[in-house]
Amino acid sequence: MHKLQMNTPVSMALSLLIAVLLSASATRLVCAVPDPPPFRMHQLQYYVQLDVRSPGISNRFLPPINTTLSANFGAGTLFSLNVTKDIEPTSERLGTVRGYTVETSYLGFPDSALLEVAMVEYDDGEYKGTYQLQGLPQQQLTEIAITGGFGSFRGARGYLIVTLVVDQLPTRTFRHDVTFF
Ligand SMILES: *[C@@H]1O[C@H](CO)[C@@H](O)[C@H](O)[C@H]1NC(C)=O
Ligand SMILES: *[C@@H]1O[C@H](CO)[C@@H](O)[C@H](O)[C@H]1NC(C)=O
Repeated sequence: MHKLQMNTPVSMALSLLIAVLLSASATRLVCAVPDPPPFRMHQLQYYVQLDVRSPGISNRFLPPINTTLSANFGAGTLFSLNVTKDIEPTSERLGTVRGYTVETSYLGFPDSALLEVAMVEYDDGEYKGTYQLQGLPQQQLTEIAITGGFGSFRGARGYLIVTLVVDQLPTRTFRHDVTFF
């Protein structure tokens, strides 16, 4: 009875499908580019360039829910900013930081409480990968958690300190001092 079942056209088609899937994944494994080396150091520093004239930042992403009742609660800013090696916006580009902030305080400034969720895509020619950021940016000292990553930063854990180093609109430049555990 068991044998008979195994030879039905359906089960034969199924095993063919499984064989095809297996060989497809095997091919993918063989063709995959080698993994970038894991980043084993604990410190990383780079700059993030904000140019308010560029389309890479928008506060029309999410409107506040009701400014009369709840200040800027719900207002969102979407951003995609260049990561550079040095402080000058024209210095070597190492990647991007993309993400958003959402105002999560209904009390208004100075009780603003922005939730930031972002992703750094980093490629310096040796290390290549991404890591995820989550935190509450502050006016003074902003510390953001690193909650994971992939590529060279697979499974990353740590934090980064954001420092505003140039504040000359239309340009703002931030330094990220990253610590990986
Ligand atoms: C905002 O909230 C106030 C107070 O509850 C209300 O009167 C007003 O209609 C609301 N505005 C909007 C756009 O929902
Ligand atoms: C980001 O870098 C790209 C490539 O170097 C450049 O074309 C673009 O102008 C930069 N964006 C900003 C806002 O500086």
